[in-house]
Amino acid sequence: MALLKILTAPDPRLKEKALPVVEVTAEIRQIMDDMLETMYDAPGVGLAATQVGILKRIIVIDVADEKNDEPPAPVKLANPELIETSKELHTFEEGCLSVPSYYEDVTRPSTCTVKGLDENNKEVIIKAEGLLATCLQHEIDHLDGMLFIDHISRLKRNVIIRKLKKDQKLDRERSHNHAL
Ligand code: NI
Repeated sequence: MALLKILTAPDPRLKEKALPVVEVTAEIRQIMDDMLETMYDAPGVGLAATQVGILKRIIVIDVADEKNDEPPAPVKLANPELIETSKELHTFEEGCLSVPSYYEDVTRPSTCTVKGLDENNKEVIIKAEGLLATCLQHEIDHLDGMLFIDHISRLKRNVIIRKLKKDQKLDRERSHNHAL
């Protein structure tokens, strides 16, 4: 197991489209496990391979509510595909490990059905609602080079990108100081 480095916006690699996984092999399972470990460590409730610089269609999610003593419920999926979305919409305040410390309301279908391959290369169908539905759509977006801030107004998006660039510049300056 290994922790992977999470890319942050506006890294151009986050805008790329990930390629389908041909078969879920031991190598892909290892990536899934490393991604899950990285996500729990961050901590976050979802992570797409694009966010760790791997351009393969893989996502991991765990929306179990730890505070309410829910047991872990990891979801590992290759080639996740939205096959159905509800007309009914739902607005949720989203955040993202690649857009650290910024949160905005995003409106998406409130329920969805996703098809994909599990860690054993078996086809699975997930019918989701609530946070899981939002999270699945958010992570699949990542595989197509989309961030949640691409769903909000250009004005708000530009403000966030500008602040992120400033935060990253400060981080770089700080690490330079430590390198003395
Ligand atoms: Ni995200």
